[in-house]
Amino acid sequence: MLPPKLSPSMMCADLFRLEETIRCFERNGVPYLHIDVMDGSFVPNLMLGTETVRQFRQFTAIPMDLHLMIEDPGDKLEWFGVKSGDYVSVHAETTRHLQRVLAKIRSLGARPMVALNPATPLGAVEEALADVDAVLVMTVNPGYAGQKLVPQTLDKISRLRKLLDDTGLDQVEIEVDGNVTLENAAKMRLAGANIFVAGTSLLFRPGGMEDHIRAFNDLVK
Ligand code: DX5
Ligand code: ZN
Repeated sequence: MLPPKLSPSMMCADLFRLEETIRCFERNGVPYLHIDVMDGSFVPNLMLGTETVRQFRQFTAIPMDLHLMIEDPGDKLEWFGVKSGDYVSVHAETTRHLQRVLAKIRSLGARPMVALNPATPLGAVEEALADVDAVLVMTVNPGYAGQKLVPQTLDKISRLRKLLDDTGLDQVEIEVDGNVTLENAAKMRLAGANIFVAGTSLLFRPGGMEDHIRAFNDLVK
């Protein structure tokens, strides 16, 4: 099993306590900041634009886990100043030239990740798995925080993990995004996921942030 990693969903963060939150993540060795970019066309919401990404980069050295929920991402990658160490995920549903876009992410020095909505079959990315470092399995329909897990996505994670392992791609990571509670994280981990997008279900909820991080680490270690 690939080592578990936490990727806090910054769209869920309290904007008025952002400095405190990010310094807490730095102290606790959180490896990524999950940045949900939404264009109001691919998903019915607008969220976290290019200037926000630029300011996050200026403020912390924690690598970005950029989740591009935008149409035609291939023409817009440079907008986000992607750099080595970043993950950049594009949705298979948003481009007719997926392999070209993934190769371009790699050429920009970042790590390519392909994302799938709950109803999009694994077959949509089967021919591009050699071009990615990770696959993002949406466990809710993208666009909003606070949604409930789409239950059949757990089996999808298992099938993807088997597909990757059976084709010699056992180092390709699986990221899960949406309603990652401690209970769901345990099931997702067993199914084969190792990067966990943590939003209102896990981190950004009442209680101490460090307690939530500790509870997650204790669960998945
Ligand atoms: C969904 C977002 C996620 C996530 C938020 O489009 O991309 O960041 O759902 O976390 P939860 O689901 O825990 O509120
Ligand atoms: Zn996301």
